[in-house]
Amino acid sequence: MRSRTVLLSVFVCMLALWAGATSSVKVIPQPAEISVGEGYCALGKPLTVAAADKNAVSLAAEIVRTLDRQSVKAKKASASRALVSVKADPELGAEQYRLRVTPGGITVTASTETGAFYAAQTLAQLVATAGPEGIAACEINDYPRMAYRGLMLDVVRCYVPVSELKRFVDVAARLKINNLHLHLTDDNGWRLEIKKYPKLTEVGAWRVDRPERFPGRLNQRSKDEPTPIGGFYTRKEMRELVDYAARRHVNIIPEIEMPAHSAAAIASYPELACPVNDRFVGVFPGIGGKDASIIMCAGNDKVIDFYKDVLDEVMDIFPSPYIHLGGDEASKTLWEKCQLCRKRIADENLKDCEELQAWFMDSINHYVRSKGRTAIGWDEVTYGDPKEDMVIIGWQGDGSTAVNDSRRSGRKFIMSPAKTMYLIRYQGPQWFEPWTYFGNNRMKEIYNYEPTDSTWTPELESSLLGIQGSLWSEFCQSASDMQYLVFPRLMAVADMAWRPKGTSDWPAFVSNLDAFLKNPDLDGLNYARSMFNIQHTVRPSGDGTVEVSLECERPDAVITYSMDDSTFHRTYAGPLKIGGPACVYASAFVDGRRPGRTLKLPLRFNEATGRKVTAPACNNGLQYVLTNGLRGSSRNSDFEWAGWWNAPAEFTVDLGSVIDVREVSLGTLVNSDICIAAPHRILLYTSPDGKAFTLASDVKVPEALTFAHPEKIEDIELFSGNARARYLKVVALNPGGIPDGMAREGAPTWMYFDELTVR
Ligand code: ACM
Ligand code: ZN
Repeated sequence: MRSRTVLLSVFVCMLALWAGATSSVKVIPQPAEISVGEGYCALGKPLTVAAADKNAVSLAAEIVRTLDRQSVKAKKASASRALVSVKADPELGAEQYRLRVTPGGITVTASTETGAFYAAQTLAQLVATAGPEGIAACEINDYPRMAYRGLMLDVVRCYVPVSELKRFVDVAARLKINNLHLHLTDDNGWRLEIKKYPKLTEVGAWRVDRPERFPGRLNQRSKDEPTPIGGFYTRKEMRELVDYAARRHVNIIPEIEMPAHSAAAIASYPELACPVNDRFVGVFPGIGGKDASIIMCAGNDKVIDFYKDVLDEVMDIFPSPYIHLGGDEASKTLWEKCQLCRKRIADENLKDCEELQAWFMDSINHYVRSKGRTAIGWDEVTYGDPKEDMVIIGWQGDGSTAVNDSRRSGRKFIMSPAKTMYLIRYQGPQWFEPWTYFGNNRMKEIYNYEPTDSTWTPELESSLLGIQGSLWSEFCQSASDMQYLVFPRLMAVADMAWRPKGTSDWPAFVSNLDAFLKNPDLDGLNYARSMFNIQHTVRPSGDGTVEVSLECERPDAVITYSMDDSTFHRTYAGPLKIGGPACVYASAFVDGRRPGRTLKLPLRFNEATGRKVTAPACNNGLQYVLTNGLRGSSRNSDFEWAGWWNAPAEFTVDLGSVIDVREVSLGTLVNSDICIAAPHRILLYTSPDGKAFTLASDVKVPEALTFAHPEKIEDIELFSGNARARYLKVVALNPGGIPDGMAREGAPTWMYFDELTVR
C-alpha cells in the first residue's frame, strides 16, 4: 500500500511537470504572454463577432473573414449578441493583438488589420483545440520577436503551379510567417514572364530531359536538343498570387539572381555573358559543371540595362518593399579574362573582381532604391563591401558572414544559415528519408536555434531583421515533395521567429504541433513524420563488442526494441552491448501508437568488429564506423561513413591480439555526382605491436570504380593470403579531382569508407 502511494505521488509530480510543458493554450507560434484563467468560454456555431465601436469595424471584418476562410465558421452580429467583441487600440504595435477569453465572452484588441488577422489565427487554433466545455479562460498579449519571418521556396529547380503556392501561403499565414521569398530565376530556369525579354520564358523556362538525379544531369549539348521540362508564371498569375498572399498578410519577395546563377537568362540572351565565353550555354538540367562559371558580364552596359528593365517589370508585379538580387556563388573565372570586365575595373578604379561584383550589385541596387524599394542579397555580396545599403541574408555555414558584416557596416540582415535553416537537408534519421543533399537539419535544432549570443551588442541585435527557412528544391519533383521538406519544420521556424527570446520549451512545442497538425484544413498536406523515427549510433567498444544507442527527437517517445521484428516488449533504457551477429529492431511509441518507422540494424561481426580505430585526420570524425558491424546506406551523410576530403585517408585498427589474417576488404561508397570517389590506390600494412609496420598489399582500384556514378557501394579486396598481425593500417590515396566531361568536373573529391572486414 505504502509503495503504491509513493508511486502515485511520483506519477502526480511527473504529470504536473508535463502539464507545465503542455498548457491548455495550444498555439503555434507560442504567444508572447499568456495567463490561464478560471472556467471556459462556451462556443456557438458559427462564432459571432462584433466591433465594439466604429474604429474596430474593419478589424472585426478581418477577423470574420479570416475565421470563415478556415474551418471556424464565423459571422458578424450585433454588439449585444456577439460572443467575440473587437476593439481598436492605436497604442498596440502593428502586429500586436490582445485576446481575452472569459466564461462571459471573448475580447480581441488590435491596432491594425494585421494584428486582427493574427488574433484570428490564434483564436482559430484555440477553437480547434477547445474541449466540449469551450475554450479555457486565458489572457494573451501577443507580438512577434522578429519583424521578418520568412519562407523561401525555390520554384526554379521544382516548378509548381500557383495553386500549390497558395497552399504554402495558407499554412505560412496560419503560422504568422509574413514573407514568402520566391527564388524565380537560376541556372535551371527562368520562371517569370518578362514582356520586354520574351525569350527568358520561351527559351529560359525550359530544359532538356535527363533521367538522372539532379547533380548528375549533364548539360544540354546544342540548341537542337529538345527542352520539354519546365514552366513559368505569367504576370497575371503572379499578380493573383501577390494579391492572395497580401490578403493573408504575407508579402511575396521576388528574387532575380545576378550576376551568377544566370544560365537560363544567358541561354535566352547569350550576348549578356562575357564575350570571352565561347561555349554553348543551355538551361542547366543539373549543376552545370564548368559552365557554372559562365556568368553575366559586369563590363557590358547592356547587362545593367537588362536587369533594370527586368526589375521595372518585377517591381510592377510585386509591391514588396524588398527585392532580392541574389549575388551568391559568382565565379570570377571569366571576369578575370574578359576585356570588358577588366576595363570596368580600370575605369571605376576598382581593386579586383570582388570589388567589381560590389560595383555591379551597387549599380542595380541604386536603381532599386531609386524606386523606393530595399534590395536583399545573399551574404557573398558583402565581400567587395558594396556602398549602397542592402539587407543581407546570412546563409553560408552558420550565417556568420552576415553577422560579421553587420558588426563592421551596420547593415541589416536576415539569418537563414544552411547549417540550421536550409530545409533541403535531411530532417531526421536518413535511412528513412527521400534522397536529398548534405547533413541533417532536424526540427528540434530549428526550434532551438538562437542566432544571438553574449558577444552581440544591442545595435547588432537590432540589425537582425529576422529568420527564414529556405527550401532549395533540387530533389523535389512535385509540390508534395516540397511540402514534405517544408512541413512540419516551418512550424519550428515560425515559433522560433515569433516567441520571445529565451522561452523555448521543446516538449510544449511538440504537444502544440500535434494539436496544430490535427486541423482538418491541413488534410492532404504532405508533412513529414520524421520526428517519430529513431536515430542509431553503433560504436565499437574496443573489446570486440559494440554499443548500440537509440535516440528519438520526440521527448514523449518510448523507444522499444527487440531482436526480431515481431514484438517490441523491451523498453530501451540505455546503450545495448552486443558481442555477436544480431539484428536489432526498434520503434518509437507515442500514446501507445507507433507513428514512425521501424529501425532495423543488422549487425555483422568479423575479426575487426568492435575493435578500436585510430584516424586523427578523418574529416567527419566518424572513423569508429569502420568497425561497428553496421553497413552504411547510399547516403554518405547517414553517419555510417567515415570521410576524408581531398587528402589521403589513413587509419589503424587494433585487433586486440595477434591473430591470423587471411582476408581483408574495405567498404567504399562512390558517387562522383556528389564529389565522392574511390581511392585510386590502397596500401595495407600489418604490425604485431603498432610500431613496426610491414606492407602487406598495394591495391590499384579499377578506374571504372573510381569515379562511378550515381551511387555505388563496393567492398574492395585489400588482402588475401596468410599473415599474422594485431594492428592493420590502411592508407588510401585520393584520386584527385573529377575528370572533365562529368557532372562535377574539376571538383576535389571525398573518399568514404565504412566496414573494414577481416577474416
Ligand atoms: C545559396 O544557397 N547559394 C544562397
Ligand atoms: Zn565580362
